[in-house]
Formats: sequence, structure tokens, C-alpha cells
Amino acid sequence: MAAGGLPVDGGNLDGLSGRITLSVVITCVVAGTSGLIFGYDIGISGGVTTMVPFLKKFFPFVLRKAAETKPNMYCIYDSHILTAFTSSLYIAGLASALLASRLTAAFGRRNIMVLGGCTFFAGAALNGGAINIAMLLLGRILLGFGVGFTNQVAPVYLSEMAPPKWRGAFNTGFQFFLGIGVVAANCINYGTAKISWGWRLSLGLAAAPAAIMTLGALLISDTPASLVERGKLTQAKQVLLRVRGHDTDIEPELTELIRSSEIAKASKEEPFITIFERQHRPHLVMSILIPFFQQLTGINIIAFYAPVLFQSVGFGSDSALMAAIILGLVNLGSIMVSTFVVDRYGRRFLFIEGGLQMFLCQVGVACVLAVTTGTSGTERISKGYAILLLVLMCIYAAGFGWSWGPLSWLIPSEIFPLKIRPTGQSISVAVNFAVTFVLSQTFLSMLCHFKFGTFLFYTSWIAVMTIFVVLFLPETKGVPLDSMHVVWERHRYWRRFVN
Ligand code: BGC
Repeated sequence: MAAGGLPVDGGNLDGLSGRITLSVVITCVVAGTSGLIFGYDIGISGGVTTMVPFLKKFFPFVLRKAAETKPNMYCIYDSHILTAFTSSLYIAGLASALLASRLTAAFGRRNIMVLGGCTFFAGAALNGGAINIAMLLLGRILLGFGVGFTNQVAPVYLSEMAPPKWRGAFNTGFQFFLGIGVVAANCINYGTAKISWGWRLSLGLAAAPAAIMTLGALLISDTPASLVERGKLTQAKQVLLRVRGHDTDIEPELTELIRSSEIAKASKEEPFITIFERQHRPHLVMSILIPFFQQLTGINIIAFYAPVLFQSVGFGSDSALMAAIILGLVNLGSIMVSTFVVDRYGRRFLFIEGGLQMFLCQVGVACVLAVTTGTSGTERISKGYAILLLVLMCIYAAGFGWSWGPLSWLIPSEIFPLKIRPTGQSISVAVNFAVTFVLSQTFLSMLCHFKFGTFLFYTSWIAVMTIFVVLFLPETKGVPLDSMHVVWERHRYWRRFVN
């Protein structure tokens, strides 16, 4: 199996490794801000759906149910329409992520980032001014189109722009800004929850991160790979010189990019067909299973519904939002850990360690809920146990933050050959959104029916995915994108497909 830090074939690739210039850092930080809009949405929607004026205006029946005497804490928010509000975004995102495959290849990575930002901006404006459910849903669909585009393109952009040796670290920027978006949204919800029209502010302010990332994207250039692919050789050379440093020999990297682009052009086949060829089976499997598993860690359940969850197990609405902010900050810190570790100890190490940590915490959460609220769900949870629950969730969030969080964007963006790279990333985002949709649509019912057992469901999946990583995921750290084929050729299982 390809081990960590493996020397890649073709000694001429040495020049491709690692100088970090100011220009590449600025460019990638700007591109990373694309994560802001997705994070903001994740953070804002969970909080807004617990705001009474919002519920009164759009979902009054949820409030009526909550007012029943001694409601079952697991079931208060079990409303399919309320969940549809949150998850409608994912269906729209799924469609636009698939569309983005063609668009990023034809128009370049940077332009699609701008398109995503503008669409999201329009959705935010519509949501902030919503006077009925139709406007609310339409706004969410536009937000969905926006994040579909940006989530497809930003990780690919970062992987292509980063120096190969530090690709992992640069790529974690996407998840880092996503995390900032979550925390910012939670803080905003904390403030606006006290205002009667606060939900409008929360939803409308999504325009701010959209403006930041769109303006930023307008200032950066496209990736050298995308420029070469679109025949803009001179520009590609200029960008390479700028980001790798004017005194760096960029010829080996440029030659590799031209070679990859020629291979890509030699086949006239549709990328969505090429990707199903036997030789791309390992790549395809990863681009489907990595996001699938990421969602089955249960993170979104916690991220979307942290406030709902804390409230429904007995926290007040203020402290529920506070708990979500704490979780978000822990997550943010742990992504930074990933940034420093991912190119030193590798992707596999983080996946395995994070998996074990999340496994133990989920078991802990299930046990605490079992002994405190039991199966009736009508007992109020004591303060001590509530804090224990929060601590367990924080350790869980840290585990996710340095493993499945950032790495699920990194792996699909770095394993594909140029021709099908956008397609692979599109599939990956589409799977991510589809699974998020299904899980968020079913989670509250699951919580209502299976109570603490819901968490054991996710625990089992964490065990499965950790074993999968051990057996099937090759180490990709430090391997230049255009030499990635070696990791499959050396893998004891996958080599039968690629040779
Ligand atoms: C996931 C999201 C999740 C977020 C949490 C992302 O990587 O794709 O589904 O909500 O991390 O921080």
C-alpha cells in the first residue's frame, strides 16, 4: 500500500513540492472563504427554526405541539414541514453541484465560484424579506444552487492551487471558513433571538458572507490546471510563477499540467461516462463513500439541530444556542489541528483517530440520554448531565473537526485525473447533499421513535467507516495531483482495477 510520505515515481517531480509563497496563501485564503456561505447556512437554519416569532409566522402548528402539557422531549420538533424548510436547500444544491461539473471545466474554477456567490446572495435577500412560505422556500432553493456551485468548485480550486506538499493544509481552509460561518451564524442567532423580527436579520445577513466571498473570488485568478485545460497557456505560466515564486523552476509542473491536459483532451468521451470505466472504480467508490460516510458520522444532526436538540432535552432556548456556539468553537479549533497535522501524519492517521474518538463519544451520548431521559423522554435532564452531554458532544465535534470534516472535501478533490476531477467532485457533493437531505428529513422522527438509540445508529456507521479507511483508503499526502495514479497502483486491493 502507498505509505505516508511516499516518494512518487518520476524524479522530475521533485520541483513540484513545497514552497509556500505569500501569493499562494492569499489566493487560497480568499478561495477558502467560499466555505463561509455553506457554514453560515448550516448555523443559521438550526437556530432560526427555534425562534418563536419565526415559528408563529410560518409553522404555528409546531408551537401548538410544544405547548402541550409535558411534551415528550424527543418529539417536540418532529415536523416534516419544518425539516423540509431546512433541507430543501440540499435538493437544489445537489442539482447545481452536478451541473457545476460541466461549468467548471468550460468556464474555469474561479468564475463558478463567483456564480455560486451571486446566487446565494439572491437567496439571502429573498429569505430576509420573506412574507410567506413560498418566498422562504424559493430563497432556500437559490441558496442551495449557490452552495452547490461553491462546494463543488472551491475544494478543487484549493487542491489545484496549493503546493502539492501542503495541499492538505491549504484544502482544510474550506472547512475552516465553513466552521467560521457556523459560529458567526450561531452568534448572530444568539443576538437576534431576542428581537421579534430577528429571524429576518438572521436569514438576510447571509448576504454578508456571500458578498465577502464573491468579491474575493473576483480578485483571484483561475488555477493553472484549469487555465491549461482551457488553452490559456501564457496565463497559466504567469499564475504559476506568481504562486510558486518567480525564482522557482515552474517548468516541471507546467509540463505535467500540459501532459495531463493532453491526456484529458485525447478522449472525446463524456466525463460522466469516463468516470464509470473500470480503471476509475477506486476513485468513483471514494467520491461516493467518503461523503456518504461523512454524513453518517451524524455531524449534521448535531450541527443543524444542536439548538433544537439541547432544547428538546431540557436546555432553555438561550442556553441551547450558547451550547451550539461552544460546539462550533471547538470544531473550529480542531480544524486548525488538522491543518497542521494532515500533511505531516497523513490523512489516514486523522481519519482513524477521529473515527475512534467520535465512536466513543456517541456511545457516551447515547448512555447519558438513556440514563437521564430514558425511553419516556418526559424526564427533565439534570444540569450535571446536561453539561456532561455538552462535553461529550464537544469531544465528538473535535474528532470530526480534524478528520471527516475537512478530509471529506480534500480526498475527492485530490484523487481524480484532470479530465474527470470536476465530475468526481460533483458526484461527491451531490452524494453529500443527498445523504444530508435524507438524514435531516428522518432524524427528528428517528429521535422521536428511537430516542437515545438514534445515536447508536450513527455509532455503528462510524465503526464501519473507520474499518473502511483502514482497509481501502490509500495515503495521498504529498503526492502531486498528476502522479496520483501511483497510490492506486500500489494499493493491494485497488491495483487490480487501475493496471
Ligand atoms: C459537512 C457538513 C457539516 C459541516 C459541519 C461539512 O464538512 O459537509 O454537512 O454540516 O461540515 O461543520
